[in-house]
Amino acid sequence: MNYRHGFHAGNFADVLKHVVLTRILSHLNAKPAPYRIVDTHAGAGRYDLGSEEALRTHEWKDGVARIDRSPLSPAVEALLAPWRAALAGARALYGPGAYPGSPWLCRHAMRPGDRLIAAELHPPTWRKLAEAIGRDRRCKPLAIDGWTALRANVPPKERRGLVLIDPPFEEKDEFATLAAQFVAAHRKWPTGIYALWYPLKDRGGVEALIEAVSDAGIGRLLRLEIDIDRPAAAGGLSATGLIVVNPPWRLAEEAQTLLPALTERLAQGPRPRYHCEAIRPDG
Ligand SMILES: C[S@@+](CC[C@H](N)C(=O)[O-])C[C@H]1O[C@@H](n2cnc3c(N)ncnc32)[C@H](O)[C@@H]1O
Repeated sequence: MNYRHGFHAGNFADVLKHVVLTRILSHLNAKPAPYRIVDTHAGAGRYDLGSEEALRTHEWKDGVARIDRSPLSPAVEALLAPWRAALAGARALYGPGAYPGSPWLCRHAMRPGDRLIAAELHPPTWRKLAEAIGRDRRCKPLAIDGWTALRANVPPKERRGLVLIDPPFEEKDEFATLAAQFVAAHRKWPTGIYALWYPLKDRGGVEALIEAVSDAGIGRLLRLEIDIDRPAAAGGLSATGLIVVNPPWRLAEEAQTLLPALTERLAQGPRPRYHCEAIRPDG
């Protein structure tokens, strides 16, 4: 467990993940019934973009800082509004270098009856997570393995909600683990929304993930990817994606507005691309 999200907080991949997350949360908030979120790999909850880790890589400068630079079109800004509001909320509390991670974004969106389970296995990171969200009685930061937390918490008693799976992808077999753990959770709770994050380095991993999901007969997927065309010489990640299972019904349409705008704003080379595909493996 060497991965530290502090080096990557606020980068282009976080922007995509956190924008999509806040869109899903907005849709969950559109109905009065309470929901539960399970964040299996929660991280620290919030990050300081002035920290030594963040300043070592400066990844946020080509991520959230580009979104901060100027407003996008009114249609895009309308969809970004919940994420921008959460960013403003974190900055008002902790200073202009604050960057909210997934558990903090969830907590910001949740209503009094909603609940969050957030698992983080790395002890120092868990302590930060507990500091970021632990005083809120709606939130449970757990210092346990995320896959264990997933198995123990689906289906939630609310029967409504989201599982965010955002592993560090340090291990070679992480796509296979993600597929197996997701399929097992989906068997227990087929109606939940699931958001599965992945880095796009080689396409084999994600294709195998989609195949495993398809073989399990799971339908209603939305595949969202952006490639910022980062020059190979610069190293690091150039493309990332999310598979959203049981997506809220307007999410695909929203992604068609958001993804081209985010891709253009975050591009580092002349040929950035995005991909937005609704998949029904059962035909
Ligand atoms: C990509 S980061 C999470 C970022 C966070 N979801 C966000 O969007 O703000 C992955 C996190 O998973 C943690 N981690 C690694 N293995 C884990 C495991 N088996 N169970 C739970 N957390 C784990 C790492 O310490 C790291 O903080």
